[in-house]
Formats: sequence, structure tokens, C-alpha cells
Amino acid sequence: EWTPANMAEELVAQVREQIGEGRAICGLSGGVDSSVAAAMVQKAIGDRLTCVFVDHGLLRAGEAEQVKEDFVAATGVDLVVVDASERFLEALAGQSDPETKRKIIGREFIRVFEQAARDIVGAESDSEHPVEFLVQGTLYPDVVESGGGTGAANIKSHHNVGGLPDDLQFKLVEPLRALFKDEVRQVGLELGVPDSIVWRQPFPGPGLGIRIIGEVTAERLEILRAADKIAREELTAAGLDRDIWQCPVVLLADVRSVGVQGDGRTYGHPIVLRPVSSEDAMTADWTRLPYDVLATISNRITNEVSDVNRVVLDVTSKPPGTIEWE
Ligand code: XMP
Repeated sequence: EWTPANMAEELVAQVREQIGEGRAICGLSGGVDSSVAAAMVQKAIGDRLTCVFVDHGLLRAGEAEQVKEDFVAATGVDLVVVDASERFLEALAGQSDPETKRKIIGREFIRVFEQAARDIVGAESDSEHPVEFLVQGTLYPDVVESGGGTGAANIKSHHNVGGLPDDLQFKLVEPLRALFKDEVRQVGLELGVPDSIVWRQPFPGPGLGIRIIGEVTAERLEILRAADKIAREELTAAGLDRDIWQCPVVLLADVRSVGVQGDGRTYGHPIVLRPVSSEDAMTADWTRLPYDVLATISNRITNEVSDVNRVVLDVTSKPPGTIEWE
């Protein structure tokens, strides 16, 4: 019989068996999947797990702080924070093809984890065991969409599956690989992961890097971060967080349109709102948000974010559109 308790127990046992006496690091983003995976592995191997939070510069406002406050406070897990924003931005410079961007991000994550694994061992006086295992919160839909499911087309390379480099040295530990998000949430609650994390909306590992259509630059990230913050604030204020699956905010960085703002003509970028409703992210419908909430978001973004003079609403279901634009 499938119950969250049975499932959690069985998966913890499997992790314990796979890792044995070994040591692991876990890429922790603060999202549901990596947090539940980390909690599970911590239960299995205790302090032989170190979590690594990579600030790749593609995060939303306030993200890094939230991980420290919510997850570390709740679990007491060992956490290393790596500021790798320069390295990711340099690697992404000049790149605008979606799959290329995804693969660069996937590769850079691994390079940062490798360095972190070396540093962890190097910092110990009695350093003996290398860190061999990398824990990832990969879910079943990530595998399918990256072309890993039987007969499935490669729709997009999720950073933690199809985006992994060929020379990967780590042994992967992916306890959630057979689960859907709703199951992960139930298992997470069973493991004592706090509500504030379990019910977070999904946010992709490649972050804002796949929500800037075109090249990723520091300046564009700043624009998108400001617009995204406003959209999230207003959705939360309207009490809509649990009604929507997630709401990507996308910057069409290579598109400009004419506007009139303040005293005159502007030639700025459009921001796209992509609110979706879904059960498992395999299919989705666009969410019929209240018009007044949309109006507030639009007014605030065009007033408060420079270089944005237009806000548009994505009214496409999945299929044919995917949830993220890249
Ligand atoms: P798509 O865009 O494929 O998204 O309809 C389905 C769900 O997956 C998330 N997503 C990702 N999550 N790494 C992640 O951790 C990725 O590379 C990635 N790509 C998409 C997306 O936000 C949505 O919830």
C-alpha cells in the first residue's frame, strides 16, 4: 500500500544502502525537490551529508536568505554557500540558444559541486574519504522531459538530467526520481520538512537564466528580478499562491516596443506573465487570474521597473506551450 510514510521509509533505506559508509553533497536550491531529497539523505546518513547552496546569480530576490532561514533552521543540516555568480555569468556571455544555456548552467553547477567537494575534504585535518556522491532532487517529469523516459522526445534538458556534463565523476543519488511533485510534497511532510518549503511553488534550477529570452546579462537580470518581485508580491497579497502552480515572469530581452511614459516616448522591453495551473507540470492550463490583480501587477511593473514599458499575459496551455519559455 502506498502511503507517504511507507514511501519515505523505503526511500531512506534505499539511500542508506546506496551510499553505505560514503559521503555526499546535495545541491540545495531551497525548492521543494532538493529540500525533500536533502532531508531524506540526512535521515539516511546524518552528518556525512553536506548541502551546497550555489548562488549562480540567476536567483530571484531574497532566495539565498530564505534557504538559510527556512531549511537550515528546520533541519540543522550542514550548509556551504558558494557565490558563483561571476562564473555563471561569464560562461553564459554571448549565449542565447535555450539548450546551450541549459547545458552551460548544468555543467557549471557540477564544476561548483566538484570544487565544493574538494574544499569540504580539504578543510578537515583528518581528511580521508573523498565525497563521492551527489544528491539531486530529480523528479520523474524532469527525466521524461529531458528525453530519459522510454521513447520520449527531448523537450528540454533539465539542468540536473540532460544538462549534466559527460565527464561527471560523482555517483548520483536521486531518491525522488520515480515521484511526481504531489508525492514529493507528501513525503516531505512525512520527513518533517517545514510547510513553508513543502508548499513553495516550483522554481527551475537554471533560475532566471531561462526566463531571459536572449543573452543573460547582469543588467537584464536586474530588470527581471525587479519585475518578478512585484508579481510575486501582488500574487501573495491577493492570496493566490496556493491557487496557482507557479507564475514564471519572463523578459523578452531582444524585443522592444514603443511606449509613452512620463513625459515622452520610450522604447522598452515587454515582460510576460505566465501563470499556470497544473497537477504535475506534465500538462498545464493558464490560470485565469482576476483582472484587478493583473492590472495592479502591470501598473506596478511599468511604473517601477525601468526599461519595461509593456506587460503581456501568456494564455497558452501546455501543450502546446511549455511552462518555462526556454
Ligand atoms: P516546462 O517548462 O518543461 O516545465 O513545462 C515543467 C516544470 O519543470 C520546471 N523546470 C525545471 N526545473 N530544472 C528544474 O529544476 C530545470 O532545468 C527545469 N526546467 C523546467 C518548470 O519550472 C516547471 O515547473
